[in-house]
Amino acid sequence: MSHYSLDINGRTTAVDAAPDTPLLWVLRDQLQLLGTKYGCGVGQCGACTVQLNGVPTRSCLTPVASVGKKKVLTIEGLDAQHAHPLQQAWQELDVPQCGYCQAGQIMTAAALLKENPRPSDADIDGAMAGHLCRCATYIRIRAGIHRAAE
Ligand code: FES
Repeated sequence: MSHYSLDINGRTTAVDAAPDTPLLWVLRDQLQLLGTKYGCGVGQCGACTVQLNGVPTRSCLTPVASVGKKKVLTIEGLDAQHAHPLQQAWQELDVPQCGYCQAGQIMTAAALLKENPRPSDADIDGAMAGHLCRCATYIRIRAGIHRAAE
């Protein structure tokens, strides 16, 4: 067990964990930040995506010891009022079906819009390619990102 002081959603957060504990389990099991989901556990699905210093990152593959001073942003920290343009667009367009993958999708989409406020379809498809949705909401995700970019 080691002690870590992490910057999570803008708050300094003390955590005790084995160094190789995936950040995903620290977020979910210790901090009850349950918006970040466990899908595959091997970096293939994107459900566990959070941002580290603004970069979409698979938290299932991120040992807590590697986080250091990087700023961790989860879906809970994206907008305290759930009023981020992506969250609004997701509601307006009924993007989710089961919803399981959508927090990860939104975290990557938010990073895309920060880099590229007016992404093309190709830009969106490129950025979102690593995210799987078993309900196949891909077309609505693309539309939601365009709506949020308006
Ligand atoms: Fe991390 Fe699937 S749970 S990529």
